[in-house]
Amino acid sequence: FKKAFIFDLDGVIVDTAKFHFLAWKNLAESLEVSFSEEENEQLKGVSRINSLQKILEWGNKSISEDKFNSLMAQKNEEYLAFVDRMSPEDILPGVLETLTYLKENNYPIALGSASKNARHILTKVGLTSYFDHIVDGNEVSKAKPDPEVFLKGCELLGVEPEQAIVFEDSQAGIKAANTAHMLSVGIGDKAVLSEADFNFEGFTELTEDTLKTLTNFKK
Ligand code: G6P
Ligand code: MG
Repeated sequence: FKKAFIFDLDGVIVDTAKFHFLAWKNLAESLEVSFSEEENEQLKGVSRINSLQKILEWGNKSISEDKFNSLMAQKNEEYLAFVDRMSPEDILPGVLETLTYLKENNYPIALGSASKNARHILTKVGLTSYFDHIVDGNEVSKAKPDPEVFLKGCELLGVEPEQAIVFEDSQAGIKAANTAHMLSVGIGDKAVLSEADFNFEGFTELTEDTLKTLTNFKK
C-alpha cells in the first residue's frame, strides 16, 4: 500500500511561525486589539485574509476595504523583511534528514501550505527540489481547516487521501487532514495538537523506525 507525504511549511519545515506572530502582533496592537500566544495559536495555518478577519472580530472592529487591503499589505511587508534574512540554516532540526530519507526511498512528497510566500521561502532555504508538487495559498480557494490544499496535493501526487501522511503544526491543519481521512501527524506541543493521530515535538524524533511505523499504520 503506497504512501505519500504532505508537509505543511510554516512551523513544520521552517520556523517562520515566529515571524508571522511578530507581524500579526504589531498589527493587532496598532488596532488596539490584544494579541497573545493564545490568539496566535488560532491563526496558525489560517490564510492571511482570514487571519486579519479574525483579529478584527476579536477587537470588534470594522474597517473599510481599502484599510483592510493596506493592513494585509503592511503585514506581508513586515513578514517578508524577516523572510529576506532566511537561509538554509533556518530549516528546523531533523527536517533535512527526513526529506532525504523519504526521497531516497522514493516516497512522493508534496507541500501543502496556506502561504502565498511558500515558493519564495522554499527557494530561500534551498528545499524546492525535494518536493514533487507544491500546493500553496495561491492555488486554493478554501483555507484550512478545509482540506482542499491537502486534497489537491494527493491529486497531484496520484494517491488517495487514505494514503497520505500529513505533517502539521496547526490545529486548523490537523483538522483538515483528519476531515480528509489522512494520517495526521502533529509537530509541536501535544497538548495543543491533541486531535492528531501521532505527535512529535520535532523531526529529530522521527527516526527511520518511526517513519516506518507511520507508513505501516492503518487509520
Ligand atoms: C501559514 C501560516 C499562517 C499564515 C498563512 C498565510 O498557514 O501558518 O500563519 O497566515 O500561512 O501565509 P502568507 O505567507 O500567505 O501570509
Ligand atoms: Mg504551519
